[in-house]
Amino acid sequence: MENYLLDWANLLLRWLHVIAAISWIGESIYFVMLDNGLHKPKDEASIKRGVFGEMFAVHGGGFYHSQKYLTNPPFELNEDVHWSYWKSYTTWLSGFALFALLYLANASIYLVDPAKMELSGAAASAIAVGFLVGGWIVYDGLCRLISPTMNRDGLLSIAVAVMVIGVAYATSLIFQGRAAFLITGAVMATSMSANVFFWIIPGQRRMFNDIKAGRTPNPLDGKRGKQRSVHNTYFTLPVVFLMISNHYAFSYSHEYAWVIMALIIVSGALIRQFFVLMHAGKKLYALPAAGTAVIVAALFVGAPQQALEQPAVAQTAAPAVAEASAPAAGEASAPAAATAAAPAATAGVNYAQVHEVMEKRCVACHAAKPTQPGFAAAPAGLVLDQESVVRANAARINTAVKSKYMPLGNMTQMTDEERVIVDQWVSAGAK
Ligand code: HEC
Repeated sequence: MENYLLDWANLLLRWLHVIAAISWIGESIYFVMLDNGLHKPKDEASIKRGVFGEMFAVHGGGFYHSQKYLTNPPFELNEDVHWSYWKSYTTWLSGFALFALLYLANASIYLVDPAKMELSGAAASAIAVGFLVGGWIVYDGLCRLISPTMNRDGLLSIAVAVMVIGVAYATSLIFQGRAAFLITGAVMATSMSANVFFWIIPGQRRMFNDIKAGRTPNPLDGKRGKQRSVHNTYFTLPVVFLMISNHYAFSYSHEYAWVIMALIIVSGALIRQFFVLMHAGKKLYALPAAGTAVIVAALFVGAPQQALEQPAVAQTAAPAVAEASAPAAGEASAPAAATAAAPAATAGVNYAQVHEVMEKRCVACHAAKPTQPGFAAAPAGLVLDQESVVRANAARINTAVKSKYMPLGNMTQMTDEERVIVDQWVSAGAK
């Protein structure tokens, strides 16, 4: 019952999170479009009023005429002015709640990868939260240090890109692949919301109050708001990729998953640049072409690796398993693995052997009624004690097992020999 309610909480929070993110990012994309789509006003009255730029639009059965003033609007600034911040905060708060409910509350299942680093759940959680806070401190520090008066924003962008790729690399050394992708995305997303909270909104408030009181606003506030908004638009595409990638084990369970992340971050930036320029009237098709080329490069990097060096193992399967089973003679699995792998080199593995592996290593979680504490239903909907399910998902199972993504954190202590059994069965056509 408790797990069932937690699953609902998870689903509802995710719903909220996605809706809030769509509203936030949608609005920010709208304003990027508006800013770049502005043109100088033609009518005398607007020019006299000091309009910086304007745009005409038709939408939702009506016509719109937006005009932008930099710091000297000729109308009264009052409560009617629309501010944009709750969408951003809601996105972050629901995202963090989801992260806490899913990952921090089950850190030893979802964060820790003992093959990478032997961490307790509490330590892994502390490090994960440290990345979010530390990421913001370092990013904000870089902005203040390198481009304090927005004078070296080009150099700053390079430094920020290097930092984010550093996070991708570091997290993939510490955490499970899926968590590494998520945390890297969350580091960027946290900085995005923190930009809104610590700089963009306070800066706009100072400008608002100065103008209201008849003082000249500090131009740095406006420039900084712009700088941080621009960073946010660069972060957007990669963040969304990293957030949805958790359904695609091939992307994050790869040995060079951090390179895939880095390439996606670069391609996201290139594609973003195209859209920004497009609204300003320039169509630089080289940009999306380059972005696509970078994605193709990611495709090559991520191509399934022979994680277990399958051909070599197949030839030497019998002696290798014999050796492996000797010290583990007391373990019930050893003879099974030996008989399974020995004929594999010649006759192939049959389903019964795979079934045995599933029973031992997978069905604690992947059953209609899991026995593993914390699970209310078969994860990813995969009920692996059913032959039809195993057959239908053979390729997916093999990817997950070969890359050692499954069993999660190797909680059920699957052996390499068992991974070879699954691989050989699937490679031979899952017969
Ligand atoms: C400790 C619990 C646990 C064990 C044990 C476990 N799994 Fe999973 N498995 C999960 C969870 C949780 C997910 C969902 C994670 C996700 O969406 O990527 C999952 C997802 C999967 C997926 C879908 C991944 C994808 O997105 O393609 C496959 C395939 C899979 N498991 C196979 C296996 C196999 C095969 C075994 C046994 C060798 C196994 N699992 C053991 C918890 C477990």
